[in-house]
Amino acid sequence: MEHSPRWLAQHEATMPAGLAWLSEREQARLDQFRFTKRRTEFLLRRWVGKYALAGSIGWPTDDAALARLEMLNHLTGAPYVEIDGVRGDMDVSLSDRAGTAVALVGPAGTGPGTLGIDLEVVEPRSDGFVRDFLTEAEAAWVHARRASHGEDGWQEAANLLWSAKEAALKVLRVGLRADTRTVEVSIDDRRRDDGWAPMTVTSVRGEVFPGWWRRDGVFLLTIAYASGTGAPEPPALMGGGTDLAAATPMHSWMGRHTVQ
Ligand SMILES: CC(C)(COP(=O)(O)OP(=O)(O)OC[C@H]1O[C@@H](n2cnc3c(N)ncnc32)[C@H](O)[C@@H]1OP(=O)(O)O)[C@@H](O)C(=O)NCCC(=O)NCCS
Repeated sequence: MEHSPRWLAQHEATMPAGLAWLSEREQARLDQFRFTKRRTEFLLRRWVGKYALAGSIGWPTDDAALARLEMLNHLTGAPYVEIDGVRGDMDVSLSDRAGTAVALVGPAGTGPGTLGIDLEVVEPRSDGFVRDFLTEAEAAWVHARRASHGEDGWQEAANLLWSAKEAALKVLRVGLRADTRTVEVSIDDRRRDDGWAPMTVTSVRGEVFPGWWRRDGVFLLTIAYASGTGAPEPPALMGGGTDLAAATPMHSWMGRHTVQ
């Protein structure tokens, strides 16, 4: 794959009504979910992932085409792509939150993972959360944001650091198996005209993951690249997706907890 990384968001309301856009393997996986929330989230991540993959390789997005583009998972949970049953030479990362999902697609590298993406909503986070999951330096930064920007500043800062950690831990292909304090986030506030601002995540082993973050409405989006990538540009936005800034957070599964 030749393109530099690109991203896309899709709201739950844009998902096709049927399931013909899933492969047999994906349908079999879907059938294993008993809880509507898990099922909806899995579907939504497949939807955005396939749509983004189709866009990045110039394929159409009809059901038949999307069914040939599979979003599968390693035993670790990390996603990978197969096109007509053959492993694709690209890396993908997926995330969803409150009825909206995002995908980041880019060239595969030589290591386990080249990129990670995470989507969060700015929501209340307690003092205990900040104490338990953030490093001392990160906690100090969140406290400083409360002093300078009030309660909103605290919530945004705490959720942003959490998201950045998840993005980097997805690059590492470990996710939240790792202690969140084994990676430390450093945020830069200087937003570019396109909405992206730089950030860096450093691991206790000295790896440095360059990344970017943005705030769109109630959503916080972070992306991280593999250590040693240098100073890459933010991913370009693909066409055909949902505008995050205008997307309404929703929980469509509420009241329908189990699959009938
Ligand atoms: C990665 C992780 C932190 C994301 O959780 P989350 O914030 O609740 O959910 P998000 O929507 O942001 O991301 C979910 C996606 O993360 C990706 N993911 C899961 N594990 C991953 C890993 N080890 N490395 C990279 N990406 C991973 C998957 O693509 C997943 O979506 P999918 O299952 O539909 O393919 C979490 O899933 C995790 O810690 N996973 C590893 C541990 C685990 O429980 N594994 C279960 C093995 S099946």
